[in-house]
Amino acid sequence: MEVSMLPLSVFLLITTLIVGDPEVHAPVDGAPPSKIAVVGAGIGGSATAHFLRQHFGPEVQVDVYDKGEVGGRLSTVSVNHNEYETGGSIIHSLNLHMQDFVKQLGLKYRRSVAGKMAVFNGKEVILEETDWYLLDLFRLWWRYGISFIRLQMWVEEIMEKFMRLYKYQAHGYAFSSVEELLNSLGGSGFINMTRRPLSDSLLELGVSQRFIEEVIVPIIRVNYGQNISIPAFIGAVSLAGSQNNLWAVEGGNKLVCSGLLKMANANVLKAEVNTISPVQKEESLQYQLNFTSAAGAASELYDIVVMATPLQGSATSGVQFQGFTPPFEHFPSHYHTTVATIVHGYLNTSFFNFPDPRLFPFANILTTETPDLFFNSVASVCPVNISTGFRRKQPQEAGVYKIFSPQPLDKSQLKTLFRSYYSVQTTEWKSYPRYGSSQDLSPLELRPNLYYLNGIEWAGSAMEMSSVAAKNIALLAYHRWNRQADLVDQKDLMHRIKTEL
Ligand SMILES: Cc1cc2nc3c(=O)[nH]c(=O)nc-3n(C[C@H](O)[C@H](O)[C@H](O)COP(=O)(O)OP(=O)(O)OC[C@H]3O[C@@H](n4cnc5c(N)ncnc54)[C@H](O)[C@@H]3O)c2cc1C
Ligand SMILES: *[C@@H]1O[C@H](CO)[C@@H](O)[C@H](O)[C@H]1NC(C)=O
Ligand SMILES: *[C@@H]1O[C@H](CO)[C@@H](O)[C@H](O)[C@H]1NC(C)=O
Ligand SMILES: *[C@@H]1O[C@H](CO)[C@@H](O)[C@H](O)[C@H]1NC(C)=O
Ligand SMILES: *[C@@H]1O[C@H](CO)[C@@H](O)[C@H](O)[C@H]1NC(C)=O
Ligand SMILES: *[C@@H]1O[C@H](CO)[C@@H](O)[C@H](O)[C@H]1NC(C)=O
Repeated sequence: MEVSMLPLSVFLLITTLIVGDPEVHAPVDGAPPSKIAVVGAGIGGSATAHFLRQHFGPEVQVDVYDKGEVGGRLSTVSVNHNEYETGGSIIHSLNLHMQDFVKQLGLKYRRSVAGKMAVFNGKEVILEETDWYLLDLFRLWWRYGISFIRLQMWVEEIMEKFMRLYKYQAHGYAFSSVEELLNSLGGSGFINMTRRPLSDSLLELGVSQRFIEEVIVPIIRVNYGQNISIPAFIGAVSLAGSQNNLWAVEGGNKLVCSGLLKMANANVLKAEVNTISPVQKEESLQYQLNFTSAAGAASELYDIVVMATPLQGSATSGVQFQGFTPPFEHFPSHYHTTVATIVHGYLNTSFFNFPDPRLFPFANILTTETPDLFFNSVASVCPVNISTGFRRKQPQEAGVYKIFSPQPLDKSQLKTLFRSYYSVQTTEWKSYPRYGSSQDLSPLELRPNLYYLNGIEWAGSAMEMSSVAAKNIALLAYHRWNRQADLVDQKDLMHRIKTEL
């Protein structure tokens, strides 16, 4: 979600976040857990470790496994001694957990550097941002009519309902599945939105074909690399993320992950988890994790395990679930490939029909769905640390660009997009689910005390989605452990919370 789309910005109602610790209850029976494992040290796993520590207290041992780098899909590459985000990069101003992490960790917001956006259709630029926000609004109104306002209201309403989750979580409520969670926020309407294509909702809203092709599709392409067959709920998340009020973390978003792990006093193990199997001893059920690290193969027993990595299809973590009866069903769906290419060089502005680079005014280029176009977006990117004197490079100068594409770019494609270049760095991500419009939502609770954080990604994939899922799973794990059924999957929470206050 690299690109901010100024004209779509809306004046969102700021829902007040009720800060404060959820009610903490003493265990009703039995001892507290002694060891908890989290598999994955991306933002989801790191936030889970943090919230587990918050709820279970200082005694429990929290082990966090990662086979790769802390940060996972939040990662940077280095160009000329500067770091650039290659994965998750943009955070919305209403992403309250992310904001809270940054505040608690004493991190800073990265200054944003102005840059204009345009939409390119393979031949020419068909839509461009101006310097003047009201003029943009007016132009959009002119070009697309009333459907643009309807769409804004639709996204706003969904955002507002989604924000209820922060209140529920602040009151200690948890959900055992994505369905329960969505249902409590927006009723069956929300669940239906995960099952019908965005195109249906847009049609219902009376959004014009032209607006879909020229505005919506380009946004979905840059955010999720897909088209308007994605579910309506993801579409709304994606459009909400295209408003202004976007930010990022100074020094790189992954600093949130390492910071949270440290604050949680978690043991971070650089190891690949290979198998998980249940171990039943008398009354107690534990899980055995077998893993390999540089030191060789080993295994460890845990009371609670949280899987904080995608388990589906081609993105599999490689974790085998063994000895479970009934056995685990296959997690059927696949992750989409998005290639992020960071190029240091001279953009070929002729390709965009601007023969003179000095007259090329854009920093971000989105694209319509066009056969033969080999990329989804091109953006001039800023380093994760921005010094006071920093200014964006002009198109006639060598600059750092990020291209998102479905396949790695070959030499001739690079030579088309760039007049010349110094360096090319490619990251091939299993980026987010490949959304079909009718798949089932993934479970969050696989077995007693065995949880699956990334089930949330089937409702929406973003740093904040992993963060709200982390809070939910920490609460759920805590309530399940303490047999606190009245804080799980409760109905009519809006009403309850009002009467609790
Ligand atoms: C190109 C791109 C752009 C994006 N843009 C944005 C954006 O602008 N804004 C936004 O909010 N989101 C964005 N996202 C989505 C966002 O990055 C993800 O939703 C989020 O980072 C997921 O975090 P996670 O912790 O749930 O999973 P991950 O970050 O994938 O973490 C999983 C971790 O588990 C580890 N692991 C896997 N298997 C094992 C194993 N067997 N043993 C041990 N460890 C294992 C992995 O090494 C990994 O570190 C983007 C994603 C991509 C790829
Ligand atoms: C969601 O779908 C179900 C089943 O198709 C339907 O009964 C329900 O009314 C729908 N909810 C909304 C809010 O549209
Ligand atoms: C969207 O993409 C999917 C998968 O690539 C494809 O099957 C579908 O036809 C596309 N839909 C539209 C409306 O282009
Ligand atoms: C970038 O910013 C982070 C956080 O403010 C800081 O820790 C780091 O040292 C900075 N790096 C450089 C190269 O300035
Ligand atoms: C895990 O490792 C232990 C030894 O450490 C071994 O006894 C057990 O069979 C292994 N489990 C699996 C599922 O491989
Ligand atoms: C730049 O783009 C133009 C127009 O697509 C193309 O003819 C040219 O070969 C490209 N490359 C360079 C280096 O100019």
